[in-house]
Amino acid sequence: MIVLGIESSCDETGVALYCSERGLLADALYSQVELHEAYGGVVPELASRDHVRKLVPLIKTVLDDAQLSRTDIDAVAYTAGPGLLGALMVGASCGRAIAYGLDVPAVEVHHMEGHLLAPMLELNPPEAPFVALLVSGGHTQLVKVEAIGDYEILGESVDDAAGEAFDKVAKMLELGYPGGPRVAALADTGDVGRFTFPRPMTDRPGLDFSFSGLKTFCRNTILDHTDDDGHIDQATKADIAAAFQEAVVDTVAIKCRRAVKQTGYKRLIVAGGVSANRRLREKLQAALVKERAEVFYPGLKYCTDNGAMIAYAGCQRLLAGERAPLSVRTKARWPLSD
Ligand code: KG4
Ligand code: ZN
Repeated sequence: MIVLGIESSCDETGVALYCSERGLLADALYSQVELHEAYGGVVPELASRDHVRKLVPLIKTVLDDAQLSRTDIDAVAYTAGPGLLGALMVGASCGRAIAYGLDVPAVEVHHMEGHLLAPMLELNPPEAPFVALLVSGGHTQLVKVEAIGDYEILGESVDDAAGEAFDKVAKMLELGYPGGPRVAALADTGDVGRFTFPRPMTDRPGLDFSFSGLKTFCRNTILDHTDDDGHIDQATKADIAAAFQEAVVDTVAIKCRRAVKQTGYKRLIVAGGVSANRRLREKLQAALVKERAEVFYPGLKYCTDNGAMIAYAGCQRLLAGERAPLSVRTKARWPLSD
């Protein structure tokens, strides 16, 4: 079965063709980073309009790349939520219409399930059961995965997501958008020992996260080192970025080790945009080796939003018999456990 996957929940238009027998056949991505950069963050209406412009050309690209025609498409999977409603509407209505026009089934995919299953696209995919850490711009969650489709949230952020905290700290440090990779790059040049930031909620039991206090700690440290002319030197900025990143990744690693201990599962999969963070990977490796557990990641290009993860997740749901109704349904909020 060949599935066309469409992702348009935020600022990336992702399209892919996944075959249940042959694996990933083609994928194409258009990032709107340049479009939103001037505004310092994603402007929802501009995002929707750009998805309209890019989606159909990208679908043609993946069909050409895979040397297939549209009649080879057996089903269409699209992200139905959570995300920006207007942006989701573009991919969902386009995907639903294509499926109707081709007289093939369609399936609605949960964006975070897409992220969660992205490591399955790799050569040595993990087998369930496992613990999943989902760390993106909108979510920080630890999920107990008994089987594909069977998800129990073990813990999540009570305020900001980890990626959101990275993005906000990037703004404070005047690094612009997208923030996460820029904070990470600056952190690499800093002295990680100069400032010590708190590791929120690690001194009490439980698997929830909180990153908003860390953000405030960051703002106060910046103010303490800003002179009367509003100037802060570059080395201090790098040291703050390093201390912030270290606090986030340490906190996440502590909770992941706890989740692995609590479930007894020996596999952790990590997905979502922040899983691209190199320091996070180092810390997780060090923490999980102590539990004799293995860590799995998607390939770097499948850590952030993409169409391949949606095509894969959709394919699994289609194989299990799931079908979307004819109506286009999108949800800005949609708990994974639903
Ligand atoms: O999964 P994703 O592409 O979109 C959402 O579903 O949110 O994740 C984007 C998030 C952004 O907050 C971005 O700043 C963060 O992932 N991110 C990173 C890195 N690369 C992306 N955060 C820290 N370090 C990185 N290397
Ligand atoms: Zn995402």
